[in-house]
Amino acid sequence: MKKILITGASGFVGRAFAARWQYEYKLLTPSHSELDITDETSVDSFVMAHMPDVVLHLAALSNTWYCEQHPEESLLVNVVGSENLARAAARYGAKFIFFSSDQVYNGNKEQGPLSENATVSPVNYYGRHKLEAEQRIAAILPTAVMLRLTWIYDAPQPAVPHADFVNNMINAVKEGATLTVPVREYRGITWLRDVVNNLPLTFSLPGGVYNFGSGNSVNTYETACCFYEMLYGGDASRIVTPDYERYPLACRNLSMNTDKIFRASGGCICFPATIDGLRLFVEMVPVKG
Ligand SMILES: NC(=O)c1ccc[n+]([C@@H]2O[C@H](COP(=O)([O-])OP(=O)(O)OC[C@H]3O[C@@H](n4cnc5c(N)ncnc54)[C@H](OP(=O)(O)O)[C@@H]3O)[C@@H](O)[C@H]2O)c1
Repeated sequence: MKKILITGASGFVGRAFAARWQYEYKLLTPSHSELDITDETSVDSFVMAHMPDVVLHLAALSNTWYCEQHPEESLLVNVVGSENLARAAARYGAKFIFFSSDQVYNGNKEQGPLSENATVSPVNYYGRHKLEAEQRIAAILPTAVMLRLTWIYDAPQPAVPHADFVNNMINAVKEGATLTVPVREYRGITWLRDVVNNLPLTFSLPGGVYNFGSGNSVNTYETACCFYEMLYGGDASRIVTPDYERYPLACRNLSMNTDKIFRASGGCICFPATIDGLRLFVEMVPVKG
């Protein structure tokens, strides 16, 4: 049985990964207090003591707004912490999987789905630090697999509230609030199930950066209207209103092309388009509340 060290195992993705794969792998899931990734010595000792086959590095400060307010903390956790883990993975021979973000493309002026070769020009600390982490990890450990994730959603879990595309819509409807959604924005939005199911297939990929999530050819406002109609039927305009003001100079385009990972995995890693993923989600999960 492969041994996998998951950092950030108590987080949104880590919990779902552990629940899905607990019987197929031996999972090491230290909490933040048991393994602080910013402590280089602890990271080295932990990896040396447990000798995992794979380090699945999910721990992060993942809130972009928080990172903007606390750039030094973001640098420490998202860059230095990632570097500490990459160094330990290199030293003890573990495959390293790093979760980066589509935010590295924020600021790119191109249209259409972006490949990994597209210009990266992050506009906030979170995106800049994810990009810097990718670069430092690649220098330490060329076999590291760095995945650029989209915004991820899942069904509401009352015990663990989470602000994502699905939860934001359901909460707005429950509260009778209006959801103002940008028209001049293109981004993929991916079901957590698809992320988690595809992850083990990344363990055997050659090192490098890969886009990893659903593509989307329609804008975020259209995506929200479509999702409302799937969930509730009828006219979305009661809840979803278009925001034409955000991103006035150029559309914000984070939508990704996933041809590289599809080819590198021999056609095994694929994601439905965002709208198709949402449709499957609505068919399979009773979420209306
Ligand atoms: N969710 C998304 O939509 C999304 C999109 C793109 C990329 N990503 C990336 O995917 C990864 C997983 O995201 P997520 O949504 O699961 O994040 P999350 O729910 O915010 O979880 C973050 C995890 O990191 C842990 N952590 C934070 N600082 C730590 C430290 N210094 N040492 C050890 N553990 C620490 C947290 O533990 P405590 O809570 O105990 O501090 C928590 O378990 C992150 O790298 C994130 O940037 C997520």
